[in-house]
Amino acid sequence: MTVVNESFMSPRIQNLQPYQPGEQPKVGGLVKLNTNENPYPPSPQVIDAIAEVAAKSLKLYPDPESDQLCDTIAAYHGVPREQVFVGNGSDEVLAHAFCAFFQHDHAKLLFPDVTYNFYSVYCRLFGIEAELVPLDTNLCIDVAAFSAAAQANTPIAGIVVSNPNAPTGESLSLDTVRDLLALNPQRVVLVDEAYVDFGGQSAVSLVQQYPNLLIVQTLSKSRSLAGLRVGFAIGQPALISALNRVKNSFNSFPLGCLAQAGAVAAFDDKAYFEQTRQAVMATRERLAQGLAGLGFEVLPSKANFLFVRHPQHNAAQLASRLREARILVRHFRQERVAQYLRISIGTDQQATYLVKVLEHLLGQQDA
Ligand SMILES: Cc1ncc(COP(=O)(O)O)c(C=O)c1O
Repeated sequence: MTVVNESFMSPRIQNLQPYQPGEQPKVGGLVKLNTNENPYPPSPQVIDAIAEVAAKSLKLYPDPESDQLCDTIAAYHGVPREQVFVGNGSDEVLAHAFCAFFQHDHAKLLFPDVTYNFYSVYCRLFGIEAELVPLDTNLCIDVAAFSAAAQANTPIAGIVVSNPNAPTGESLSLDTVRDLLALNPQRVVLVDEAYVDFGGQSAVSLVQQYPNLLIVQTLSKSRSLAGLRVGFAIGQPALISALNRVKNSFNSFPLGCLAQAGAVAAFDDKAYFEQTRQAVMATRERLAQGLAGLGFEVLPSKANFLFVRHPQHNAAQLASRLREARILVRHFRQERVAQYLRISIGTDQQATYLVKVLEHLLGQQDA
């Protein structure tokens, strides 16, 4: 039972609605397509690296700077070491970025009305005013609407986009990212690339050119390491030192030694990464076809999930019927997308099973 006694709380916390993650079931035997995890295990090299460090180094504090991991990420992305920052999952990196860059008096932070829900939560946590910029009628990011919002709210606190966007799966071109960067060169544009390895186009190549660009990525999705909690940011040194200032004022040791070693090994095993991400993308296309065959509208996705709706069936009901059939998918109550389901990409076998179960449910009258 949760006891709520707000009188002890700081005023801002009294009204804070926390982020609600998708269900992590306490029982086995469910087909879990609700939190965009990777269906494949991490590289065996990750497990070996973690086991080795566990045997050797657990009694010691980890490297507070995660130097080996930052060097590895820098080499992988072809940027200097001082342009890399790591954190305990990209959620923590995002939180530090919101704290470091977006708390400007009388200025609003712009992000899409349909996007990763944590952005709104961080705004409330840090007292940042948000301006929700509507996606267009196809649920795509609308640069003209961002431009209008930036002009109406000058000066802005910054811009955040997820690319590919969550939960829609839309991938932005580099030109679109450039357009957003140009809207206010004095403020940071954060591009959250949590899903970029599944076919999107990373804006890392723009970092040297744009001092206001911060890229955030994670090892939770394409590297099958959601449980290890490793995320990182890439940006010019001024942005990275601001993130370090926040991090070192909050927690000097955000990444344990197991996370650091496992993450390095994940980057080192390029063949495994390539094999598993290709498998996820291939299943995504198969599942998209299977769902379209059942009459679902399937938004084009470059992520490890599909955002779909059925013109004749209520999404909330479908989600709960799937739950009864032991398949978890994600349904958001937000009005604009309440008729959609977000379905994470599992294995081919899980995709076949899902389509079969949905075929059965759609054939029943009340689904
Ligand atoms: C768009 C987006 N950004 C960031 C995250 C956070 O990922 P993590 O904290 O696991 O790195 C998620 C998780 O689902 C996400 O969807």
